[in-house]
Amino acid sequence: MKADLIVSNIGQLVTCSSGGAPKRGTAMQDVGIIENGAVAVSEGKIAAVGKYDEILRTFEADSVIDAGGKVVCPAFVDPHTHIVFAGNRLNEFELKIKGAEYLEILANGGGIISTVRHTREASIDELVEQSLRRLDKMLACGTATVEIKTGYGLDTETELKMLAAIEQLDHRHAIDIVPTFLAAHAVPPEFKDDADGYTELICSEMLPLAWDWYQSSHLKTKAPFFADVFTERNAFNVPQSYKVLKTAKELGFALKAHVDEFTNLGGSRLALELGAVSIDHLDAISDHEIELLANSGTIGIVTPTVNFNFGSTQFADARKLIDTGCAVALSTDYNPGSAPCPSQPMAMAIACPYQRLLPAEALNAATVNAAHAIGLGDKIGSIEEGKQADILILDCTDYRETAHEFGRDVVACVFKAGMLVYKK
Ligand code: NIG
Ligand code: FE
Repeated sequence: MKADLIVSNIGQLVTCSSGGAPKRGTAMQDVGIIENGAVAVSEGKIAAVGKYDEILRTFEADSVIDAGGKVVCPAFVDPHTHIVFAGNRLNEFELKIKGAEYLEILANGGGIISTVRHTREASIDELVEQSLRRLDKMLACGTATVEIKTGYGLDTETELKMLAAIEQLDHRHAIDIVPTFLAAHAVPPEFKDDADGYTELICSEMLPLAWDWYQSSHLKTKAPFFADVFTERNAFNVPQSYKVLKTAKELGFALKAHVDEFTNLGGSRLALELGAVSIDHLDAISDHEIELLANSGTIGIVTPTVNFNFGSTQFADARKLIDTGCAVALSTDYNPGSAPCPSQPMAMAIACPYQRLLPAEALNAATVNAAHAIGLGDKIGSIEEGKQADILILDCTDYRETAHEFGRDVVACVFKAGMLVYKK
């Protein structure tokens, strides 16, 4: 049979195959390894996966790439980022080193609000150019699909400007983008002490306009559109979060929620009841809510880069989440404040020792489960017949090195839909 591309001589072909569902419980320890493997690619999709002698017997291709006995695995999927922004938060980095708290900085008009000031001032072109460079860094770290949130506008005009920037990024970069509308990221200065008033604006004006944008965006043909809320002290309480998520759901949005990052307000339970595709952060989630998550179809996304960046030794208990049967995904949460990190291998390197994940669990969390966390589990996240050929050749012979030898660029090549889009 004819293929467009064969990647052969793969010492360790790590498929992360899951048969279509997210992985949970002990299944997260299995990354589906084929020794001496090969992958055949046709029209951007995976045509066959197997031992290389079998694949080479069955297929011929114009292009045959020798992986040199190295590891091949699915390209990473990053299911939670905030990479469209202007300015930087380097002063805040120093303030935190000296002991300031993240929510205290936010309450004093810094943090997210300081990024909002810069993002409002920036043109679309500036936002796009800066964000393209961030996507370049993510691609070099092996990420081929990225969820991006708005949330640094907090007014109708700038939130829509962020959506326009997100759309351009998808056009202009090899990485595929999944959009999330996060007008409910913080309460803007115009509504200081009136979070209810801002919530009303989000529901009556911003969400409907964002939904209209999606209807005429090319992204509609390839990705869901999510709405998200930051349920936290100094951000949105549970009744406000309910109003945002309920309104969004009625418009047609899929749902996500930032919950239990610092404080358990009951946000996880709320988002689960509303059928969120993912609930994210989960540092302060209760045992009861962990049970609810385990018995739901919702993915729990953990963001250990945040705790690491805060110099904290407290992390979301991802070990307990997995042991209770939750489907756990991993993200960088790449943003200018709490997690300035483009690298899923770095997130894995933190998750393994600090959240007690095995490298296999971390890899499944950053690939197949991350794909399910953005509603694309049937298209990407694993090397299985019929899926898009988003694959990595790694510069190592055992996939566990990805999480073990931290701080180096382990990715040798990235293929997106069967095309070489990055080479070290
Ligand atoms: O996921 N917690 C809220 N939002 C982001 C941080 C955004 C920022 O600090 O700019 C997060 O950690
Ligand atoms: Fe976030």
